[in-house]
Amino acid sequence: MRIAIGADHVAYEFKEKIKEYIRDKGYQWTDFGAHSKERVDYTDYGFTVGEAVASGEYERGIVCCGTGVGISIAANKVKGIRCVVCSEPYSAKLSREHNNTNILSMGARVVGIELAKMIIDEWLQTSFEGGRHLNRIEQITTYENNH
Ligand code: RB5
Repeated sequence: MRIAIGADHVAYEFKEKIKEYIRDKGYQWTDFGAHSKERVDYTDYGFTVGEAVASGEYERGIVCCGTGVGISIAANKVKGIRCVVCSEPYSAKLSREHNNTNILSMGARVVGIELAKMIIDEWLQTSFEGGRHLNRIEQITTYENNH
């Protein structure tokens, strides 16, 4: 699985720890920045990771900012992106099973790194259930394509 990663300056160090964690788990990733703690706009990284995943080049994305909110809103503006903001593993798991989320967002000011690792584990290991959930995803896609 190839993972696109991005964060703003607030979540730069958090992102670095996440990269190390998922590398040790055997995942391949590309870091789309930010590459330092210099102030940037989370929007750029949300759009870039969103486009990397929507293009199909990356199967999943992980994005982070202070709360995880701003960057998730930006990522969700990219057609085909279903980005979830998570601060606990239950929603991470269910967001995969029911919503087929393709980007995970977390807040560096909200979630400690050890909790983030548990969230990531659930999110990366859980599959979409399909079935009754598929129709709802298709409704979202249809709406997206017609507006
Ligand atoms: C940056 O100050 C902050 O607004 C950002 O990291 C994030 O929390 C936005 O949602």
